[in-house]
Amino acid sequence: MAAEQTQGVPGTGGARHLLPGGVGAAIRGRFPIFEHTTYANSCSQGALSVDVRRAYEEYLDGWDAHGAEWEHWVERAEAARGAFARLVGAEPDDVAVTTSVSQAVSSLVSALPLERDRKKIVISEFEFPTVGQIAHAQELRGAEVVHVRPEADGRIPLERFAEAIDEQTALVCCTAISYRTGYRLDVAEVARIAHERGALCLADSYQAAGAVPLDVRALGVDFLTAGTVKYLLASAGLGFMVVRRSLHERLLPTQTGWFADEDIFRMDISDYSPAPDARRFDAGTPPVPNIYAGIAGIGVVEETGVPAIEAHVAGLRERLLAGLDELGATVATPRGEAEIGPLVCVVSTDPHALVSALAADQVVTSTRDANLRVSLHLYNVEEDVDRILAALARHRELLA
Ligand SMILES: Cc1ncc(COP(=O)(O)O)c(C=O)c1O
Repeated sequence: MAAEQTQGVPGTGGARHLLPGGVGAAIRGRFPIFEHTTYANSCSQGALSVDVRRAYEEYLDGWDAHGAEWEHWVERAEAARGAFARLVGAEPDDVAVTTSVSQAVSSLVSALPLERDRKKIVISEFEFPTVGQIAHAQELRGAEVVHVRPEADGRIPLERFAEAIDEQTALVCCTAISYRTGYRLDVAEVARIAHERGALCLADSYQAAGAVPLDVRALGVDFLTAGTVKYLLASAGLGFMVVRRSLHERLLPTQTGWFADEDIFRMDISDYSPAPDARRFDAGTPPVPNIYAGIAGIGVVEETGVPAIEAHVAGLRERLLAGLDELGATVATPRGEAEIGPLVCVVSTDPHALVSALAADQVVTSTRDANLRVSLHLYNVEEDVDRILAALARHRELLA
């Protein structure tokens, strides 16, 4: 990146950091947790910034000062729609604002006819439980669910998708970065295979949004969903789904609500007349406090820019991987340049014990399956990686 400079950072023992505006040491001061903790758990929950705290306070102050601020709150929901659209290269009217990925995916599948000749839902084995469970719930409507399983090396070759998707497939659900292993999938290719066979494609991009660039047009997916809890640096209770423009009018979600109506404030209960655009996948009253937080969190991400975040994290990740190799650890995440993102998974003999041992050393991580999850974001610096590695060395016996 041309704008990057290499500088010594005061207060870090002369360590050298890449300092594009707002990455690493330059932004860390806005996340108080780093005063006492090495935080490497953004795959579970992004760290709290002073910006997000201030946004919650602003919401409470407005409520206190004016009582109901509905006009302003609805305007904030539209601002969130715009922020999500910018994040993935979409237009605001392509975006549904939801309370969760679950709500988004449920309303999406409720709009699929799942007719006899198109009743299959293909899901990768790396889907988050909510996507798998929603898919299987459609069995009650006659759907057939087909799983695409990974190889022993943690990759899902595209041929596995090609074998599973056929002319009876209505929807293919894939996940951009696995929450279980950190494996990054070639979503654009999965979408291409789905379309060849006339199926629609959904990319759950929760573990990617805010960490790696997402361009919904380049990916070619029909639906892309994520939420604000992780690399978008906000809190629970806010998500979104981008819907391909040519599908808006064709899809009629039967899981719906008054904020999905063509005229929200007409308060008309005589029919179902959804909004003409992706807002038809919204539902009830917008999650106003989470919207304040979400806009602030996305604002922090936008200030730095996702490409700069990705480049910064790639440098830290290489340092982490080199240190893990020195320790003789087993990395579960496939390491190809295009196959890995901000999440590195390390095989442990007792992952829960390892997470607890690291927490006792003020290093916050998490676990899934047999893996320790270490995830890095814009606020992490080389010293964090070194502290994580030092703590892992102290607990070497818990690494496989
Ligand atoms: C890949 C992925 N999808 C979905 C979710 C959560 O979805 P929801 O917003 O419905 O809770 C998570 C959260 O951990 C996730 O990692």
